[in-house]
Amino acid sequence: MKIDVLTIFPEFFGQVFDFGIIRRAKLAGIVEINVHDIREFATDKHRMTDDRPFGGGDGMVMKPEPIFAAVEHLTGAAERSGYPAETRVVLLSPQGKPLKQQMAREFADEARHVIVICGRYEGVDERVNYALVTDEISIGDYVLSGGEPAAVVLTDAIVRLLPDALGSETSAENDSFSDGLLDCPHYTRPAEFRGMKVPEVLLSGDHAEIEKWRREMAMQKTKRIRPDLLEGGHSCPLVESE
Ligand code: ADE
Repeated sequence: MKIDVLTIFPEFFGQVFDFGIIRRAKLAGIVEINVHDIREFATDKHRMTDDRPFGGGDGMVMKPEPIFAAVEHLTGAAERSGYPAETRVVLLSPQGKPLKQQMAREFADEARHVIVICGRYEGVDERVNYALVTDEISIGDYVLSGGEPAAVVLTDAIVRLLPDALGSETSAENDSFSDGLLDCPHYTRPAEFRGMKVPEVLLSGDHAEIEKWRREMAMQKTKRIRPDLLEGGHSCPLVESE
Protein backbone atom coordinates (compact mmCIF):
# COMPACT_ATOMS: atom_id res chain seq x y z
CA MET A 1 0.00 0.00 0.00
CA LYS A 2 1.09 3.56 -0.66
CA ILE A 3 0.00 6.35 1.69
CA ASP A 4 0.55 10.00 0.70
CA VAL A 5 -0.12 12.61 3.37
CA LEU A 6 -0.83 16.18 2.26
CA THR A 7 -0.18 18.80 4.93
CA ILE A 8 1.02 22.35 5.36
CA PHE A 9 3.13 21.12 8.33
CA PRO A 10 5.26 18.29 6.95
CA GLU A 11 7.69 18.66 9.88
CA PHE A 12 4.88 17.64 12.20
CA PHE A 13 5.32 14.06 11.03
CA GLY A 14 9.05 13.94 11.88
CA GLN A 15 9.77 10.37 12.93
CA VAL A 16 6.22 9.45 13.80
CA PHE A 17 6.10 6.68 11.19
CA ASP A 18 9.53 5.32 12.18
CA PHE A 19 8.60 3.17 15.16
CA GLY A 20 7.19 -0.23 15.92
CA ILE A 21 4.76 -1.85 13.55
CA ILE A 22 4.71 0.99 11.01
CA ARG A 23 8.48 1.07 10.78
CA ARG A 24 8.60 -2.69 10.36
CA ALA A 25 5.89 -2.60 7.68
CA LYS A 26 7.85 0.09 5.83
CA LEU A 27 11.08 -1.88 5.99
CA ALA A 28 9.29 -5.02 4.81
CA GLY A 29 7.90 -3.15 1.80
CA ILE A 30 4.31 -3.63 3.00
CA VAL A 31 3.67 0.10 3.01
CA GLU A 32 5.32 3.22 1.61
CA ILE A 33 4.46 6.47 3.38
CA ASN A 34 5.26 9.89 1.91
CA VAL A 35 4.52 13.28 3.45
CA HIS A 36 4.03 16.19 1.03
CA ASP A 37 3.98 19.92 1.71
CA ILE A 38 0.81 21.37 0.17
CA ARG A 39 2.65 24.67 -0.17
CA GLU A 40 4.92 23.13 -2.81
CA PHE A 41 1.89 22.82 -5.07
CA ALA A 42 0.90 26.48 -4.70
CA THR A 43 1.79 28.43 -7.83
CA ASP A 44 1.06 32.02 -6.80
CA LYS A 45 3.84 34.40 -5.81
CA HIS A 46 3.40 33.96 -2.05
CA ARG A 47 2.63 30.23 -2.20
CA MET A 48 -0.59 30.82 -0.34
CA THR A 49 -2.47 27.78 0.91
CA ASP A 50 -5.33 29.61 2.64
CA ASP A 51 -7.51 32.66 2.19
CA ARG A 52 -10.41 34.53 3.81
CA PRO A 53 -13.84 32.91 3.66
CA PHE A 54 -16.39 34.15 1.14
CA GLY A 55 -19.38 35.48 3.06
CA GLY A 56 -17.16 36.71 5.89
CA GLY A 57 -16.52 35.20 9.27
CA ASP A 58 -13.57 34.16 11.39
CA GLY A 59 -10.58 32.16 10.34
CA MET A 60 -9.11 31.13 7.08
CA VAL A 61 -10.10 28.50 4.55
CA MET A 62 -7.66 26.24 2.72
CA LYS A 63 -7.55 27.11 -0.95
CA PRO A 64 -8.56 24.50 -3.54
CA GLU A 65 -5.82 25.04 -6.18
CA PRO A 66 -2.78 23.57 -4.36
CA ILE A 67 -4.79 20.59 -3.10
CA PHE A 68 -6.18 19.87 -6.57
CA ALA A 69 -2.65 20.14 -8.00
CA ALA A 70 -1.26 17.77 -5.37
CA VAL A 71 -3.96 15.15 -5.87
CA GLU A 72 -3.64 15.42 -9.64
CA HIS A 73 0.13 14.98 -9.33
CA LEU A 74 -0.34 11.85 -7.21
CA THR A 75 -3.25 10.21 -9.05
CA GLY A 76 -3.11 11.63 -12.56
CA ALA A 77 -6.64 13.00 -12.17
CA ALA A 78 -8.30 16.03 -10.57
CA GLU A 79 -11.64 14.33 -10.02
CA ARG A 80 -12.77 11.16 -8.31
CA SER A 81 -13.96 9.44 -11.47
CA GLY A 82 -10.46 9.64 -12.98
CA TYR A 83 -8.59 7.89 -10.17
CA PRO A 84 -7.09 4.47 -10.76
CA ALA A 85 -8.99 1.64 -9.11
CA GLU A 86 -8.25 1.12 -5.41
CA THR A 87 -7.32 4.78 -4.83
CA ARG A 88 -8.96 6.56 -1.90
CA VAL A 89 -8.66 10.27 -1.17
CA VAL A 90 -9.42 11.05 2.46
CA LEU A 91 -10.21 14.43 3.96
CA LEU A 92 -9.73 14.54 7.72
CA SER A 93 -12.18 16.84 9.43
CA PRO A 94 -14.55 16.87 12.41
CA GLN A 95 -17.44 16.76 9.90
CA GLY A 96 -16.38 13.34 8.58
CA LYS A 97 -17.75 9.87 9.14
CA PRO A 98 -16.45 8.55 12.48
CA LEU A 99 -13.45 6.25 12.11
CA LYS A 100 -14.19 2.70 13.28
CA GLN A 101 -12.21 -0.51 13.20
CA GLN A 102 -14.43 -1.79 10.39
CA MET A 103 -13.51 1.24 8.27
CA ALA A 104 -9.79 0.73 8.88
CA ARG A 105 -10.28 -2.92 7.92
CA GLU A 106 -11.97 -1.94 4.64
CA PHE A 107 -9.12 0.39 3.73
CA ALA A 108 -6.54 -2.29 4.55
CA ASP A 109 -8.42 -4.87 2.48
CA GLU A 110 -9.48 -2.76 -0.50
CA ALA A 111 -7.25 0.28 -0.99
CA ARG A 112 -3.81 0.21 -2.58
CA HIS A 113 -3.21 3.97 -2.64
CA VAL A 114 -4.50 6.28 0.10
CA ILE A 115 -4.10 10.04 -0.10
CA VAL A 116 -4.76 11.79 3.21
CA ILE A 117 -5.54 15.50 3.17
CA CYS A 118 -4.99 17.19 6.52
CA GLY A 119 -7.50 20.01 6.91
CA ARG A 120 -6.54 23.15 8.83
CA TYR A 121 -7.96 26.48 9.92
CA GLU A 122 -11.69 26.89 9.70
CA GLY A 123 -11.92 24.33 6.97
CA VAL A 124 -11.12 23.37 3.43
CA ASP A 125 -12.77 24.83 0.32
CA GLU A 126 -15.81 22.62 -0.25
CA ARG A 127 -14.88 21.99 -3.90
CA VAL A 128 -12.10 19.73 -2.63
CA ASN A 129 -14.74 17.60 -0.94
CA TYR A 130 -17.04 17.81 -3.94
CA ALA A 131 -14.59 16.75 -6.62
CA LEU A 132 -11.64 14.99 -5.01
CA VAL A 133 -12.53 13.33 -1.76
CA THR A 134 -13.79 9.75 -1.63
CA ASP A 135 -13.99 9.58 2.18
CA GLU A 136 -14.35 12.42 4.71
CA ILE A 137 -13.29 10.97 8.05
CA SER A 138 -13.31 12.20 11.66
CA ILE A 139 -11.35 10.42 14.39
CA GLY A 140 -13.80 11.51 17.11
CA ASP A 141 -16.26 14.07 18.34
CA TYR A 142 -13.75 16.73 19.32
CA VAL A 143 -12.01 19.45 17.36
CA LEU A 144 -8.27 19.26 16.70
CA SER A 145 -6.30 22.23 15.42
CA GLY A 146 -5.75 20.29 12.24
CA GLY A 147 -5.98 16.89 10.64
CA GLU A 148 -2.30 15.99 11.23
CA PRO A 149 -2.76 13.99 14.46
CA ALA A 150 -5.76 12.32 12.82
CA ALA A 151 -3.58 11.34 9.83
CA VAL A 152 -1.23 9.53 12.20
CA VAL A 153 -4.16 7.76 13.86
CA LEU A 154 -5.71 6.72 10.55
CA THR A 155 -2.38 5.55 9.10
CA ASP A 156 -1.60 3.46 12.17
CA ALA A 157 -5.08 1.92 12.28
CA ILE A 158 -4.81 0.87 8.62
CA VAL A 159 -1.16 -0.21 8.40
CA ARG A 160 -1.32 -2.65 11.32
CA LEU A 161 -4.12 -4.47 9.51
CA LEU A 162 -2.19 -4.94 6.26
CA PRO A 163 -1.29 -8.57 5.56
CA ASP A 164 1.86 -9.56 7.49
CA ALA A 165 2.27 -6.16 9.21
CA LEU A 166 1.79 -7.56 12.70
CA GLY A 167 4.09 -10.55 12.31
CA SER A 168 3.34 -13.98 13.68
CA GLU A 169 3.64 -13.20 17.38
CA THR A 170 0.69 -10.87 17.44
CA SER A 171 -2.63 -10.76 15.70
CA ALA A 172 -5.38 -8.26 15.12
CA GLU A 173 -8.00 -10.89 15.77
CA ASN A 174 -8.05 -10.28 19.52
CA ASP A 175 -7.95 -6.50 19.33
CA SER A 176 -10.62 -4.45 21.00
CA PHE A 177 -13.55 -4.04 18.58
CA SER A 178 -12.49 -6.90 16.31
CA ASP A 179 -15.38 -8.95 17.69
CA GLY A 180 -17.57 -6.01 18.70
CA LEU A 181 -16.27 -5.95 22.29
CA LEU A 182 -13.52 -4.18 24.17
CA ASP A 183 -10.43 -6.27 24.84
CA CYS A 184 -10.09 -8.29 28.07
CA PRO A 185 -7.48 -7.45 30.76
CA HIS A 186 -3.94 -8.79 30.32
CA TYR A 187 -1.29 -9.78 32.87
CA THR A 188 2.37 -10.77 32.79
CA ARG A 189 4.93 -11.76 35.44
CA PRO A 190 5.18 -11.46 38.39
CA ALA A 191 2.12 -13.50 39.45
CA GLU A 192 1.87 -11.28 42.54
CA PHE A 193 2.87 -7.63 42.54
CA ARG A 194 2.46 -5.32 45.55
CA GLY A 195 -0.19 -7.63 46.94
CA MET A 196 -2.15 -7.74 43.65
CA LYS A 197 -2.55 -11.26 42.33
CA VAL A 198 -3.03 -12.37 38.74
CA PRO A 199 -6.44 -14.12 38.43
CA GLU A 200 -6.00 -17.82 39.26
CA VAL A 201 -7.57 -19.03 36.04
CA LEU A 202 -4.79 -17.50 33.94
CA LEU A 203 -2.23 -19.64 35.81
CA SER A 204 -4.32 -22.82 35.50
CA GLY A 205 -3.23 -23.89 32.01
CA ASP A 206 -6.88 -24.72 31.24
CA HIS A 207 -7.27 -23.03 27.87
CA ALA A 208 -11.02 -23.49 27.59
CA GLU A 209 -11.52 -21.89 31.01
CA ILE A 210 -9.09 -19.08 30.15
CA GLU A 211 -10.98 -18.36 26.94
CA LYS A 212 -14.28 -18.32 28.84
CA TRP A 213 -12.86 -15.94 31.46
CA ARG A 214 -11.45 -13.59 28.81
CA ARG A 215 -14.78 -13.47 27.01
CA GLU A 216 -16.63 -12.77 30.27
CA MET A 217 -14.18 -10.01 31.26
CA ALA A 218 -14.45 -8.43 27.80
CA MET A 219 -18.24 -8.50 28.09
CA GLN A 220 -18.22 -6.98 31.61
CA LYS A 221 -15.83 -4.23 30.59
CA THR A 222 -17.84 -3.43 27.47
CA LYS A 223 -21.09 -3.26 29.50
CA ARG A 224 -19.46 -0.90 31.98
CA ILE A 225 -17.45 1.38 29.68
CA ARG A 226 -19.13 1.12 26.28
CA PRO A 227 -22.71 -0.14 26.61
CA ASP A 228 -23.43 1.49 23.24
CA LEU A 229 -21.36 -1.27 21.57
CA LEU A 230 -23.81 -3.86 22.87
CA GLU A 231 -27.00 -2.13 21.81
CA GLY A 232 -29.02 -4.04 19.26
CA GLY A 233 -27.45 -7.39 20.08
CA HIS A 234 -23.94 -8.56 20.67
CA SER A 235 -22.47 -7.57 17.35
CA CYS A 236 -22.54 -3.85 16.80
CA PRO A 237 -22.78 -2.66 13.18
CA LEU A 238 -20.24 0.06 13.92
CA VAL A 239 -17.52 -2.48 14.58
CA GLU A 240 -16.38 -5.65 12.93
CA SER A 241 -18.84 -8.48 13.16
CA GLU A 242 -16.61 -11.47 12.56
N1 ADE B 1 -9.49 17.88 12.21
C1 ADE B 1 -9.92 18.58 13.26
N2 ADE B 1 -10.61 17.81 14.10
C2 ADE B 1 -10.61 16.55 13.57
C3 ADE B 1 -11.17 15.33 13.96
N3 ADE B 1 -11.88 15.20 15.07
N4 ADE B 1 -10.97 14.26 13.16
C4 ADE B 1 -10.27 14.38 12.01
N5 ADE B 1 -9.73 15.52 11.60
C5 ADE B 1 -9.89 16.60 12.35
